[in-house]
Amino acid sequence: MPGHGAGILLWNVILTTRAQPRNDTEMNPAWLSSFEESLQKEFGDRPRAFTLANVDSAGTPQARSVICRHMDATGALWFCCDARSEKALDLLRAPAVACVFWLASLRLQYRINGKATGYLSDLNMPQRVEMWKALSDRSRAMFFWPAPGSTRDDDGRKLPESSNDPHPPDTFEVARIDPNMVDLLDLKPHPHRRTRWIIQDRLWIEQPLNP
Ligand SMILES: Cc1cc2nc3c(=O)[nH]c(=O)nc-3n(C[C@H](O)[C@H](O)[C@H](O)COP(=O)(O)O)c2cc1C
Repeated sequence: MPGHGAGILLWNVILTTRAQPRNDTEMNPAWLSSFEESLQKEFGDRPRAFTLANVDSAGTPQARSVICRHMDATGALWFCCDARSEKALDLLRAPAVACVFWLASLRLQYRINGKATGYLSDLNMPQRVEMWKALSDRSRAMFFWPAPGSTRDDDGRKLPESSNDPHPPDTFEVARIDPNMVDLLDLKPHPHRRTRWIIQDRLWIEQPLNP
C-alpha cells in the first residue's frame, strides 16, 4: 500500500489540530440504553464484534469485523485499528460508515450509520492510552507487525507474539463513530418490529417503519 508514511503524518497533523471530542449532540439518545442493555445481554464480557462497512478510494464497498471497545453518552462507538490499514486510510478520505450488530440470541439487528474520526495523537486523548492498556499482550503485539494487507514475504523474521509496552506506538489508532442513523429490526414479534432514529438539528427523532 503506497503512501502509508504520508497518510500517518497527515492524520497526525489533522488530528492534533482539527479533531475535538464532539459535544454538540444530544446526550443519552432514546435508543442508547436499550442498545447497551442488549449488547450486555448478548455478549456479556465477550468482545462486542460488529461489521464495519465503508467505501474505498475506488468506490468499492468494504466490510470487515471490528470490536466495539467503548460507547459514550452520545452513543458514539469506539474501536481501534492499525493506522496503516486500508480502512484507516480510506476513512480519512471518506469517513462515512455503516455498522451492523447482529445480536443472534436476542434476534435483534442494529444498523448504525455515522462518521468516523481517527485519533493518533496522545494529546488530549486519554482514551487512546486507556484503550491501549486494556488490550491483551497478544493484541498489542499486532501493532508491531508489518503493515496489515502488505504482501507477506517469508524472510524468516519472527513477529512478536506479545507486548507489554505501556506506550501506544504510532501504528495504534483509536477511532470514534458518531452515529447519525440507528435502525433497529426486532425479529421476535411477528410481524417484525422496525424502528429508525435519525438525528435532526442535534436531536434524535424516532420513526416506526414497516419491517
Ligand atoms: C472477530 C474479529 C474482530 C476483529 N476486530 C478488529 C478490530 O477491532 N480492529 C481492527 O482493525 N481489525 C479487527 N479485525 C480484523 C479486521 O476484520 C480486518 O481483517 C483488518 O482490520 C484489515 O481490514 P482492512 O484491510 O479493511 O483495514 C477483527 C477480525 C475479526 C474476525
